[in-house]
Amino acid sequence: MEKINLSAPAKLNLTLDILRRREDGYHDLCMVMQSVTLADEVTLEKNSSGTITCESNWQHIPCDERNLAVKAANAFFAYTGITCDGIHITLLKKVPSGAGMAGGSTDAAAVLRGLRELYAPQLSRDELEMIGAQVGSDVPYCVRGGTALAQGRGEILQDIPSTLRCYYVICKPGFSVSTPMLFGCVKVDALQDRPDTEGMMQALAEGDSKKTAALLKNVFEEVLPEEFGEVFTIKKDLLANGALGAAMTGSGPTVFGVFESKETAEKAYAALKERYAETYLAEPV
Ligand code: C5P
Repeated sequence: MEKINLSAPAKLNLTLDILRRREDGYHDLCMVMQSVTLADEVTLEKNSSGTITCESNWQHIPCDERNLAVKAANAFFAYTGITCDGIHITLLKKVPSGAGMAGGSTDAAAVLRGLRELYAPQLSRDELEMIGAQVGSDVPYCVRGGTALAQGRGEILQDIPSTLRCYYVICKPGFSVSTPMLFGCVKVDALQDRPDTEGMMQALAEGDSKKTAALLKNVFEEVLPEEFGEVFTIKKDLLANGALGAAMTGSGPTVFGVFESKETAEKAYAALKERYAETYLAEPV
């Protein structure tokens, strides 16, 4: 095979808890993750250039070594010891970047899945996730996708059986939030309102959208600096438009609402899209 096309889905955090700050500067987390139909399209094409090259439809993202997709390709060849004759990565971006939706990590994960298919089909999922962990904390989850509990830095994964059918209206305000900055705002012992992770896993297993929506919780919302207050305006807006519940995903600033009815979700999507250019309608995948 010379060429492969992959879907790189965005993720939402149905829950996000921060358990402790570690010696290495990272934090131990506990998160219920869900991948959604909003996705980038990633193409890998073999060539004989001897190098890893990358292009994207978004001019503002770097396509050199700073791009997580390129980092992932380098990590793959370093780990496997396979000689790279040349690979061209094309990213058709749709997932907003700097949004808390793993936009870069999901491209990196798609590159790893694609390179495994092209070069090393015997490589296990665990190995691929381990390579992903060298690239970024969200990459192992993105390699796996679906509904999962992510712990540790994000690399300790457990599949969650989910029967939930619902719609998500996803809305990113026009600014980004720096992940390290927001982690810096967290005093773990001072956090007041922790997610009920077990309850969320049960709600997903039961396919109970009302219970799922009621249990959405992201502790980052508690420490979000005032200048990013628009996040809470969007949350209210989603709820006023019929969302059963709403929360910020990851380190934000994107907010999403859970809807049971497609019709209500479509109406909410249309209403929010008028105010926020980066509004999307998606489903779990
Ligand atoms: O691993 P990644 O490069 O995605 O992490 C970006 C930054 O987010 C880290 O440098 C760290 O400041 C913070 N982080 C953290 N704990 C995690 C994941 C990320 O403190 N589990």
